Amino acid sequence: VQLDRIEKLKSLVSTHQNFPKPGVTFRNIFPILQDPSAFTDLINLIVEEIKSKPQLPDIIVGLDARGFLIAPIVALRLGIAFVPVRKAGKLPGNVEQVSYKLEYGEDTLEIETGSIKPDQNVVIVDDLIALGGTASAACRLVRKMSATILECISVIELVALNGRRKIDAPVFSVLQY
Ligand code: PRP
Ligand code: ADE
Repeated sequence: VQLDRIEKLKSLVSTHQNFPKPGVTFRNIFPILQDPSAFTDLINLIVEEIKSKPQLPDIIVGLDARGFLIAPIVALRLGIAFVPVRKAGKLPGNVEQVSYKLEYGEDTLEIETGSIKPDQNVVIVDDLIALGGTASAACRLVRKMSATILECISVIELVALNGRRKIDAPVFSVLQY
């Protein structure tokens, strides 16, 4: 049954060669969101992964922008807080900052100062791990706040790029390419 759900999800992800730049094979999760039964399966698989661990998180951190489509739903299902990590210049007030390299470009991530307490347990959720720079920068932000990262969860992992080697936390992906 688990494999059926994963095969169905994989069949929905669309692939686009040379987007948004030459040489990049873009994996698009949006068709999953157009299929409510598949979208439910995806959320269930992530919630089941989190609940299978001895320690439950206090906070789900979601990554701008496509991580925001998944992370708040997971947080609501667990009855815990959602905290956003955003691209630079989008969050008000005091922020913590970290810069990182992308498969196609460079960027800076920010999180609101004080949005995570030092003793809290965090699970990070995003749509895709490519080079791992984004997830690894998010880990650095959460660690700056002295919180504990239980796990970093992604819908898709591009395994050939070996992004998980950069991520200083256990990594779980639902779909591998
Ligand atoms: C994409 C994707 C991940 C990140 C993965 O986001 O949603 O967050 O790249 O790449 P990496 O593992 O090489 O860091 P992108 O920055 O394109 O922004 P978006 O979510 O706003 O589309
Ligand atoms: N973000 C970084 N690399 C990506 C890819 N190949 N497909 C979709 N999103 C991405």
